[in-house]
Amino acid sequence: MSGNELEGRERGGVAWGDLIVEGRVSGQLYVDAEIFEAEMERIFHRGWVFVGHESEVASPGEFVTRRLGRAPVVMTRDDAGALRLFSNRCPHRGATICALEGGQSRYFRCPYHAWTFDSAGQLVSLPAEDGYGPSFDRSQFGLAPVPRVDSYRGFVFASWCPDGPTLLEHLGRSAQMIDRLCDLSPVGQIELRAGWLRHRIGANWKLAAENVCDFYHPPVTHASSGLVAGVPATYFSDVSGAVVRDLGGGHGEIDHRPMHARSTPRPAESYQGLRRRHLELLAERDGQVSAAARLQEGPPHGFVFPNLFIAELSIFVIEPVAVGDMTHRQTPIAWVGLPDELNRRNLRSFEGGFGPAGMVEPDDAAVWERLQLGLRAREPAWVVLQRGVGRDVDGVGRLLDETAMRGFWRHYRGLMAAGEATP
Ligand SMILES: [Fe+2]
Repeated sequence: MSGNELEGRERGGVAWGDLIVEGRVSGQLYVDAEIFEAEMERIFHRGWVFVGHESEVASPGEFVTRRLGRAPVVMTRDDAGALRLFSNRCPHRGATICALEGGQSRYFRCPYHAWTFDSAGQLVSLPAEDGYGPSFDRSQFGLAPVPRVDSYRGFVFASWCPDGPTLLEHLGRSAQMIDRLCDLSPVGQIELRAGWLRHRIGANWKLAAENVCDFYHPPVTHASSGLVAGVPATYFSDVSGAVVRDLGGGHGEIDHRPMHARSTPRPAESYQGLRRRHLELLAERDGQVSAAARLQEGPPHGFVFPNLFIAELSIFVIEPVAVGDMTHRQTPIAWVGLPDELNRRNLRSFEGGFGPAGMVEPDDAAVWERLQLGLRAREPAWVVLQRGVGRDVDGVGRLLDETAMRGFWRHYRGLMAAGEATP
C-alpha cells in the first residue's frame, strides 16, 4: 500500500472510501492479499454466491464439486430427490470426501479412514465403530450442510451466513435476466449438462467480473474474432443502440434489445430452419407476436454479483482462488423442449468461442493476466473507470460506457465497508 491507502491501514483497517471513488479505483484492490482475504469473508462467505444449476444433479446420487468462497463443497441430490449442498470435508479428520469434478454415486467415502456418507449427508458406516463407545451417535457426524441454499429457476445459490437478505432480495433486477434466458425455452427451463471448461487464469477475480459489461474492449481484444465473424464496426459503438445498464446490487447488463428492435442481424442460412422451429414452439405458449419478440430480443448478457455471467448462450462462473489467481468456468446452455439439433448448434458455437483453441476466451485470459502483471506497478495509483461519468441516466449508459463497472464498485464498497462497522 502507498500514499492515501497507507493512512487507512494505520487507522486499523482499509479505508474503502479512499480506494473506491466515482470513476476510479485503486490498483491495490487487485493485488493486495489482505484485501482478497477480506473479500472472501465479506462477499464470498457472507453473501449469496452462484454454485451451480439443478439440472447438473438431475437424478439421485448425481454430484458436482465446487468452491463456495474459500471452501470446497459438494452439490448432490439425495434419494428422496432433494438438492443438498455440503462441505466437502470429512467430519472426522477433514479430508475432502469427494475428489471428482462430478459423477454419480450413492455414497461418499473418505479416503483416510473410510467414514462413509449417503447422499443425504448421513454417516452410514465407519470401521471399528465400537471403539468410540456406546454413546457415539452417528447422526452427530454427518456432512455439514451449507447454512443457506436457495434456487431461482434452477440456478442454485448459497451462503455460508445463516442470515441476511433472501436470494430474491440479493438477485433484485438481475432475476429478470434469468427469466429472459429461461423463457426462451418453450417449457421455461434451461439445462447445464454439457460439462464445464475450466481455465486457470493468473488474474484477480474482479477483472473477469468487470469484463462482463465492458464493451469498450471487444473491438480491440477480440479484433481477430470480430473480423472472422464479420461483426460490423458499428456493433461495438455508442451509436449501435445497445446500452449498458447498472442493475443495482453490483449486477449489470449489456442490453442489446434496443439495437435488435431496429435491425436483426441475419442468421446464417443453415440456422433459418431451426429458428423457425424455435419460433413455432415458443408461439404455442406465448402466441406469435410475443414469441417473435422474445426471439428478436434474444438471450441476456449480464453479470449477477459476485460470480455469475449469463453470457447469452452460455454460463460463466468466476471462482477466486487467490489474489492473482482464479478459475474461470464456462458451459453452454441447452433449452429444454427445443430440438436437439438446435441445442447442438449452440454447443458447437460455444466450442468455437471458449474452448482451449477458442476465439474469445483465450484473448480475454491473456489480457487479464497482463492487467494483473501491470497492476503490480504502484504508479499510477488508479484504474480509470470514468467513461460516461456524468451522462448516465437512471443507471443506463451508452454501450461503451463503464456504467455497470461503477455500479459493481459502489456495491462492493458498501459490502466491504460494512465489515468495518464494529467500533
Ligand atoms: Fe472480452
